[in-house]
Amino acid sequence: MKKILFVALSVAISLVLISGTGEAAKKAKYVGYKKCGGCHKSQRDSWKKTKHAKAFESLKPGKAVEAKKKAGLDPNKDYTKDDKCLTCHTTGYKQRGGYKKGISKTKAKYLVGVTCEMCHGAGDKYRRLHRDAGNKFKKTGKPTPRAQLDKLGMNVSTEAIKNACFSCHMNYEGSGWAGAKEPYTPFTPKVDPKYKFDFDKFVRDEKAMHKHFKLKGVFKGEPKFKYHDEFQEKAQAGKE
Ligand code: HEC
Ligand code: HEC
Ligand code: HEC
Ligand code: HEC
Repeated sequence: MKKILFVALSVAISLVLISGTGEAAKKAKYVGYKKCGGCHKSQRDSWKKTKHAKAFESLKPGKAVEAKKKAGLDPNKDYTKDDKCLTCHTTGYKQRGGYKKGISKTKAKYLVGVTCEMCHGAGDKYRRLHRDAGNKFKKTGKPTPRAQLDKLGMNVSTEAIKNACFSCHMNYEGSGWAGAKEPYTPFTPKVDPKYKFDFDKFVRDEKAMHKHFKLKGVFKGEPKFKYHDEFQEKAQAGKE
C-alpha cells in the first residue's frame, strides 16, 4: 500500500515538474524587424547596409558567383526555396512567427535575411518589456534588471550572443561547436581560410553588425555582454 502511494505521489510530482518546465521552455515567437526597427531606427538603418540584411539576396542565381563556385554550389541555381539554405539566410525559419515558404510578401519582407532577432533572440516576449521598462524609466528614472530580458529569451549574456553567431557561422562538421547539426554552412575554413569565425574580432565589426548608439541605461546589471560597455563608450547619439 505504502509503495503504491509512493509511486502515485512521485508520478504526481513529476507531472507538476514536467508541466512547469514545459511552460518555462515555451519558446518566444519571432516578430520580424519592423517591430524592432520602429523603436530602434538608428540600428535599423545601419543594419540595412550590412551583408546580414542582404543575406537572402545571396541565394539568388547570379549572386556571389565566385564564392558559390568555390564552395561547390551551382551559381545559376535558385536557392531561395532550398531547405538547406534558408535556416541561416532568413529569420526563424519554420519556427513560430518565423519565415516559411509561401508567406505573404509583406510578412516576408521583415523576415528575409539575418535580421535583429537572429542575434538578439525571438522578440514577442521581451519587446513588451522594452516598452514598459522604457516608460518606467521616463517616469521614475528607475532602471530595470537586465536579468529579466534574459528570462524572456533575449540574448544579453556573452554566452547567448556567441551561441547565436555560432548557430550559423560554426554550424559545420568539425567546427568544434557542440551544437552543430544539419543543414551545415557550405562556407567553411576548408573552402577558404577567410571563413574561419573569429568571434572577438567579428563581433566588433560595425559593418557586419550595425553601428552602436548611446543607450539611456534603461536596463542595468548582469548578465551583460562583455563588450557592452566598450560599445557604449564609443557609441554615437541615435535618432529617437
Ligand atoms: C516599444 C519600443 C521598443 C520595441 C518594440 C523594441 N525595443 Fe528594444 N528597447 C527599447 C527601449 C526603450 C530600450 C532601452 C533603451 C535605453 O536604455 O536607452 C531598449 C533596449 C534594447 C536593447 C539594449 C538592451 C541592453 O542590454 O541594454 C536591445 C539590444 C534592443 N532593445 C533590441 C530590440 C529588438 C531586437 C527588438 C525587436 C524584437 C526591440 N528591441 C523592440 C524599446 C523598444
Ligand atoms: C542566422 C545566421 C547568422 C547569424 C545568427 C549570424 N550570422 Fe554572420 N553571417 C551570416 C550570413 C549568411 C552571412 C553572409 C551574408 C551574405 O553575404 O549573404 C554572414 C556574414 C557575416 C560577416 C561577414 C560580413 C562581411 O562584411 O564580409 C561577419 C563578420 C559576421 N557575419 C559576423 C557575425 C557575428 C559576430 C554574429 C553574432 C553576433 C553573426 N554573424 C550572426 C549568418 C549569420
Ligand atoms: C548553417 C548556416 C548556413 C547554411 C545552412 C547556409 N549558409 Fe550561406 N552562409 C552562412 C554564413 C555564416 C556565411 C558567411 C560566411 C563568412 O563570410 O564567414 C554564409 C555566406 C554565404 C554566401 C556568401 C559567401 C561569400 O563569400 O560571399 C552565399 C552565396 C551563401 N552563403 C549561400 C548559401 C547557399 C546557396 C546555401 C544552401 C546551399 C547556404 N548558403 C546555406 C551560413 C549558412
Ligand atoms: C549580426 C548580429 C546582429 C544583428 C543582425 C543585429 N544586432 Fe543589434 N547588436 C548586436 C550586438 C553584438 C550588440 C551589442 C550588444 C550589447 O552591447 O549588449 C547589439 C546592440 C544593439 C542595441 C544596443 C545599442 C547599440 O546600438 O549597441 C540595440 C538597440 C540593437 N542592437 C538593436 C538592433 C536592431 C533593431 C536590429 C535589427 C534592425 C539589430 N540590432 C540587428 C548584434 C546584432
